[in-house]
Amino acid sequence: MSEKSINIFQDFLKSFKSGYDEYKYRVRLSQLSSLSRKSLVVDFGDLLAFNEEWAEKLIEFPEEYLNYANTAATKQLKIEDPEYADEVGEIKVRIRKLTHTVNLRDIKSDKIGRLAMVEGVVVRVSVVKPLLLVGNFRCRDCNYTMEVPRRPQKCRRCGRKLTMELDINRSKFIDFQEIRIQERPEDLPPGQLPRSIDVVLREDLTDVARPGDRVCVVGIVKSVQEPFQRFRRRAKAGVFDLYIEGNYVDTLEKEIELAITPEEEKKIEELAKDPMLLVKLKRSIAPSIYSYGVLDAVKEAILYALFGGVPKVTPDGMHIRGDIHILIIGDPGTAKSQVLQYASQIAPRGLYTTGRGVSAAGLTAAVIKQPDGMALEAGALVLADKGVCCIDEIDKMRNEDRVAIHPAMEQQTVTISKGGIVATLNARTTIIAAGNPALGRYDPTKIVADNINLPVTILSRFDLIFILQDEPHRELDREMSEHILSLHMKGSPPIEPALSPMFLRKYITCAKRMKPRLTEEAKSIIREFYLKMRMASTPARESPIGIIARHLESLVRIAEARARACLRSEVIKEDAEAAINLWRRAYDKVIGTAEGVFDVDIIMTGKSKTFRDDVGKAVDVLRELEKKEGGLVQVALLRKRLQEEGMDAVRINRVIDYLFRYNLAFKPKDGYIKKL
Ligand SMILES: Nc1ncnc2c1ncn2[C@@H]1O[C@H](COP(=O)(O)OP(=O)(O)O)[C@@H](O)[C@H]1O
Ligand SMILES: [Mg+2]
Ligand SMILES: [Zn+2]
Repeated sequence: MSEKSINIFQDFLKSFKSGYDEYKYRVRLSQLSSLSRKSLVVDFGDLLAFNEEWAEKLIEFPEEYLNYANTAATKQLKIEDPEYADEVGEIKVRIRKLTHTVNLRDIKSDKIGRLAMVEGVVVRVSVVKPLLLVGNFRCRDCNYTMEVPRRPQKCRRCGRKLTMELDINRSKFIDFQEIRIQERPEDLPPGQLPRSIDVVLREDLTDVARPGDRVCVVGIVKSVQEPFQRFRRRAKAGVFDLYIEGNYVDTLEKEIELAITPEEEKKIEELAKDPMLLVKLKRSIAPSIYSYGVLDAVKEAILYALFGGVPKVTPDGMHIRGDIHILIIGDPGTAKSQVLQYASQIAPRGLYTTGRGVSAAGLTAAVIKQPDGMALEAGALVLADKGVCCIDEIDKMRNEDRVAIHPAMEQQTVTISKGGIVATLNARTTIIAAGNPALGRYDPTKIVADNINLPVTILSRFDLIFILQDEPHRELDREMSEHILSLHMKGSPPIEPALSPMFLRKYITCAKRMKPRLTEEAKSIIREFYLKMRMASTPARESPIGIIARHLESLVRIAEARARACLRSEVIKEDAEAAINLWRRAYDKVIGTAEGVFDVDIIMTGKSKTFRDDVGKAVDVLRELEKKEGGLVQVALLRKRLQEEGMDAVRINRVIDYLFRYNLAFKPKDGYIKKL
């Protein structure tokens, strides 16, 4: 029987022809040596077409049939490339593309022993370790040697105990790795926790997958109770006691590919021409949340974030993200969580999490200690690579994440170096985050940085920051209660969502293919606004150019996203204007336009109200001195007076620096100051 089975498979390798009269597997075998591969990849469909019965047997008795396949492939390699066959010894057959995928939650005991294909996101990978395949053990006392997979308790010849020693050079090791894959966020039934399963990988399958990768795994479903489990951990609560012995791992493209029918394509094009397009799109985001004022701007911002700007690489190779990061700081009960949940459901690759994260890896990544070594685990931002990560209560994130989130937001990678593991993982993720005010309620007399428990360095990486205050407002309250009551009566929002989430996802998928370019007109509008922001600052050396430049990039991204939303290949005047408008709606509240200056520096660098008071005081003192001195005032004199007012040297320096930087004063000549 086995001889026959081997022959059938060898026949398949020998005679299977694909399209152009090419012997597909003979060619592949002859290429192995130049690729220095030790395995032959076989498409299941080919096998099925060649011999259905054999293919089905392979699914049912994979252990046995893979052995036949390996033997046959090794035999055929001896014919195709005898030299290489001598060099590598046995080669392995790896099967890919089974006829269907089994859902991770459907891997149950009835699948044990069978070959199955699952898809998921890699959440954890262990370090690659050598696994002893054949150990060469020698007796210390009588020199007797044995070749066995495990250290024998006693010498088989002299019978002494604990005398057998491993001769590493004469033993055979293979690479061994364990990974854990989890259901993809988009496959999750709403409100369910993702399921996961461990996959054991050996030899050339190790180091193929990285945390955050989307993979398709073909392998044999096994139970931990099976005999060959030396390297298996005991099953833990919440983790399957089933695992997969990997046979083939395919890493999948992360680009979203939703099947869009020609009719849908037509509908999408029609919608793009609709003059009410943007209104309809906005209305489809969190339709049951009554939006007014800032909340309305929040919805618009989320809409743009879902489309995103165009990522770019500068001539010197620097990567500029296209993702638009949004932060909502709001009083409790202002629908932040609700809005975030909606956003994660509409986004083509959305993930909802909290600042604390749902796993040990938190938002970024972690090295965790397992009984048999270290493993690298991916956090939310890595799992949502190329998607949208909605982070609720971001102010409660772990300390490790506070550090690691910086590069994740800008360079869009997460780097971890701990416990012998050094890795950089992709996190090309749009962040939509919400946080509660540090003092329970937002205090408008304080600057943003003092209102939320997040460092300024993180705040400044958000493209847009919105403040939602729970202000009593009679007219609004009436409308809102009307809205909420009718919602409860009819069980549906009074405004029908214009578009279904599924259709919206497809629309976004389509739009994301666009790479709109700035027109001259749009460019000049943004440039003008930028100059207005810069107007107040002195030469670039001293001015917070980094911060303002960042906001310039934000404006471009938002304008690009709006163009994408309209399926346009150009960013036009209206996009630029809308971007500036939205930016203002976000930051008017944040900055307060007291000085009439877009004082981004102030919020971002965390200068507090005392600083603003100091500036006011300095201006007053300067005015007073100018009267007294008849115009020209020495900087030293101003310092002295401010000191008398109770400011220390650091504060005085900062204030004077500020006066010059924001053109509140200038230097008529060296050592003097004059108010503008
Ligand atoms: N503008 C609004 N329209 C409709 N419902 C609202 C609105 N604001 C708050 N709510 C309701 O108030 C409740 C609290 O919202 P939630 O998202 O948990 O607030 P937060 O996360 O800001 O504390 C939810 O049931 C939400 O639907
Ligand atoms: Mg909440
Ligand atoms: Zn012995």
